[in-house]
Amino acid sequence: MTTPQQQTVALANINGEIIPLSEAKIPALDRGFLFGDAVYEVMWVNQGKMWLEEEHFTRLERSLNLIRILGVDLVTLAARVYETIAAGKFKNAIVYIQITRGAAPRSHAFPKDVKPFEFLFVQEFNDPYAEMREKGIHLLSRPDIRWDHCDIKSTNLLANVLAIQESKEAGCQEVLFYLKDGTITESAHSSLFGVLDGILYTSPSSELILPGITRNHLLNLIAKDGIPIREKSLHMEQLGQISELFITGTTSGVLPVVAVDKKVIGDGKPGPITRRIEKAYWDSVKTWGQSAKNKQDGSGI
Ligand code: PDD
Repeated sequence: MTTPQQQTVALANINGEIIPLSEAKIPALDRGFLFGDAVYEVMWVNQGKMWLEEEHFTRLERSLNLIRILGVDLVTLAARVYETIAAGKFKNAIVYIQITRGAAPRSHAFPKDVKPFEFLFVQEFNDPYAEMREKGIHLLSRPDIRWDHCDIKSTNLLANVLAIQESKEAGCQEVLFYLKDGTITESAHSSLFGVLDGILYTSPSSELILPGITRNHLLNLIAKDGIPIREKSLHMEQLGQISELFITGTTSGVLPVVAVDKKVIGDGKPGPITRRIEKAYWDSVKTWGQSAKNKQDGSGI
């Protein structure tokens, strides 16, 4: 049995073989390593089950198709995730999946007959966001210098990494990305929502943002809750009038934002619409967990 201090050893699964993550090795000629020729997913495991599993695998399939990595059996991949979860007896964990085009002599064009490298790992999730959920976080605005296909969950994250580092050095926890014309897109590893004149806004699904799984799940919940919502980007010029801001993501859930570039949003505290959405989110997790448990117990309908 593990006490809260004991960590379950993180496990990797490479092309179907389970090993400790610390022993996992990547071939030096792997194209994910050399070119960033790879896509990925991050999932949350709650009570041993993948949260929003179908949605994540659908997005992975889309990313694979868009960069033309063919021949990955996603049913097998999902089974491998569950085998790895079972091997480590993980309950509350993070799953990272990365599929690269595979290893081949270095040449930019796709090599012939290369086999995709299917790598995943599962590690215990120690939620680092509890205090941030309570108090809210600060964002640093940065120009969005990423490429024109942010809808692909590609491992090329240098622009995100550099922007996050700058935000950290400025004492912030995330980034607010904006385009040259001032259009706000999203955050460096989160989707972004804002409230203006009582209406909730988030950028429309397009090549300019990642179609966040948490974002899409929330859009369904918000529609049911009757909160007015528009999938329309906010603009840097509107920052002064925005009364609430929050970011969303697989590991963070819903995180209130209380300042951007040190300027307070609303009254500097997590706002009522944010709190309502946060509650709806955690209620949906609870309901899902309960129905998964009922199914396991055989008491579900
Ligand atoms: N980040 N936007 C970007 C650019 C992201 O990288 C992410 C996820 C999101 C939120 O998506 P989702 O709700 O599907 O997690 C939005 C992951 C978690 C990461 O890179 O670690």
